[in-house]
Amino acid sequence: MPYLLLARRIALLRTAPFPYDTNDTIMANIILPPGWQLKEYQTTTEAAYHNRRAFLKTLGLGAIGLMTAATGLGCAGEVHSSHAGAVVDPEGPLDTIPPNAPRDGYPATRNTLYTVPERPVSDRLVASSYNNFYEFINQGNLKRVWPHTGAYEAFPMTLEVAGLVEKPFTLDVGNLIVSMDLEERLYRFRCVEAWSLTVPWTGFALSKLIERCKPLSKATHVQFVSANRPKQMPGIPSAPWYPWPYYEALRMDEAMNELAFVATGLYGEPLPKQNGAPLRLVLPWKYGYKGAKAVVRIAFTDKQPKTFWNELQPKEYGFLSNVNPNVPHPRWSQATEKFLPREGVEERVPTQIFNGYDEWVGALYPDTPREPTRPMAR
Ligand code: MTE
Repeated sequence: MPYLLLARRIALLRTAPFPYDTNDTIMANIILPPGWQLKEYQTTTEAAYHNRRAFLKTLGLGAIGLMTAATGLGCAGEVHSSHAGAVVDPEGPLDTIPPNAPRDGYPATRNTLYTVPERPVSDRLVASSYNNFYEFINQGNLKRVWPHTGAYEAFPMTLEVAGLVEKPFTLDVGNLIVSMDLEERLYRFRCVEAWSLTVPWTGFALSKLIERCKPLSKATHVQFVSANRPKQMPGIPSAPWYPWPYYEALRMDEAMNELAFVATGLYGEPLPKQNGAPLRLVLPWKYGYKGAKAVVRIAFTDKQPKTFWNELQPKEYGFLSNVNPNVPHPRWSQATEKFLPREGVEERVPTQIFNGYDEWVGALYPDTPREPTRPMAR
């Protein structure tokens, strides 16, 4: 079997995307992760490491796994050194705000329609140092994305408008941002891995961008495609088994809902690279992976488009992916979540249906389970 195909098979065997947390080791990422049962948010112990290696060996996959991990690390180093002259390695998570991002309109006025009365705002450093962005890192310490973003140039960037629109065209993202009335919205943010934040985003309603795109009335869905820059994003060359670029999609009625937001900033400043610069989607009633980062293409279609994680793991990551405490992930419960207010602090809190946005979006999903659907699979 060709190496790439075999590597992809291994990736599919893994219960990716989100089995590990900040403290996990590189080794842990090359083997079948145990999910919730092995205490998802704990460091991999030496015993677990050896058990996993033994398991891999029984599958005969150890060597390939080790090879892919080594490739990943090698590539990350290479990208940085080959850009040595041009790349400034960030020294901290806020060093990654692109210096050439437009600054007009920041900080924007808070839209008081959106409040999160039951929780404090998460600390800015937590929101920018605990991330998921597989184009930069998808092996090892997954959450520590920012140190790998040095080579990425978020500006200038173009946004392609394609598919079922009156006329396809391309926008300069910097010009788009300065042409919009920016507002700030405080939203709950819930990852499918069962951690959450409360975050003040800056940006504009997705419906405003869609109006500019002039979709045809027969468009039923809209797809978002992320930047694919292997030389600037070290996670891409180090994991060729993923179907890059990252792509996500919504139904048109979801995309036009007033909650759907295009974020260009965070905590009153332009978006740091690890949070999705130059712009990303924020869909607070859905699991975080629906919000594609560094979007470079928006395309309208009359069919439900494929999505990145759904294609990789259809049984684990559905198309809708609405936050729902009554529907467990096949490997863990979604009834509660780990809220992250400050560095080193975690609070276990109940998960709310549609992440607390039932009033805004509940009517879009009449079939959503309102009671627990089934016990944990195992
Ligand atoms: N977009 C791209 N292009 N690549 C990614 O890996 N990860 C998703 C989503 N958008 C991801 C992405 C996931 S799993 C989550 S939880 C959120 O981004 C994380 O956003 P944050 O890092 O700003 O909290």
